[in-house]
Amino acid sequence: EKSVSIKTLQAMKDRCEKFTTVALYDAPMAAMAQNCGVESVLVGDSLGMTVLGYDSTLPVTMEHMIYHVEAVARGNKKSHIMGDLPFMTYATPELAMHNATRIMQAGAHAVKIEGGAWLASTVSMLSERGIPVCAHLGLTPQSVNKFGGFRVQGREREQAETILADAMLLADAGADLLVLECVPAELAARITKAIPIPTIGIGAGRDTDAQVLVINDILGLTETPPKFSKNFLSEAGDIPKALKKYVADVKAGVFPEDSHIFS
Ligand code: KIV
Ligand code: NA
Repeated sequence: EKSVSIKTLQAMKDRCEKFTTVALYDAPMAAMAQNCGVESVLVGDSLGMTVLGYDSTLPVTMEHMIYHVEAVARGNKKSHIMGDLPFMTYATPELAMHNATRIMQAGAHAVKIEGGAWLASTVSMLSERGIPVCAHLGLTPQSVNKFGGFRVQGREREQAETILADAMLLADAGADLLVLECVPAELAARITKAIPIPTIGIGAGRDTDAQVLVINDILGLTETPPKFSKNFLSEAGDIPKALKKYVADVKAGVFPEDSHIFS
C-alpha cells in the first residue's frame, strides 16, 4: 500500500472522510499503528509527560524529539509522520528553520508548532522552503504558564474569534494541517468549515476532519485521564484491536462521544 502524504490527508478532508492521528513515541507502537490503519502519527512533545515523567512539555529538548522521531520513522514506513518542535525552539523564524530541518532529517514529513498570528511569517518561511507545517491552536501546552493550567480555551466570545482569525491567517500563510486542542465543539466546527486545510481535534468535538489521541490514554496508562480521552484497550482486549476500534470509531463519527466533548 502507498504511504500517506499531506495530499492524502487533504483529499480525505475534501471528500469528507475522517482520518485518525495517534501521538506515539517508539518503533513498535509506530509499526502497530501503521498496521491498524492509522493514517497519521505525531511524535508529540507530550513525550515529556507521557514517557519522561515531567510535569509539563517545557523541559523537552530537540535531542529528545530527534531520538523519538528517528525511532518512530524506523518503525513506520506508511503513515504520515509529524514531529513537534519543542518549547522555544521556534521562537524566531530562523530558529524554526534550523530546528525544523533537524526534525525533518530525523524522518518526519511535517513539523508541528504551537501558536497564533505571531507564527504566520514562520509558517510561510517553512512552507516556501518545502517543510509542511501543522499549526496548533486552543490549549497549546507550551503556554501552560500563561494559561494558569491545562484548561479549555475559546469559551469567551472574544477569545473564540481570535482563535478563528488565527486559524484563517495560518492557513493563508501556508499551514497544511491544524490541531485544535480543548476548544468548544461549536468553535472547532466553525473553524473546520472556515479553512480549507484539515483540522485534527483533541477535546474539540466530533466535527473536526480528524481526531488525535495520545497512545498512553488509548491504552489506559494515564493515572488521571483527561475528559476528552478514552481507554480503548479495556473493551478491545489487545493493542491492535484497541487501535482498530479507535480508527473505526473516528471514521464512523462515533468517537468522541458526548461525554468527551466541551461545549
Ligand atoms: O504533544 C502531543 O501529543 C500533541 C497532541 C496532543 C496534539 O501535541
Ligand atoms: Na505537543
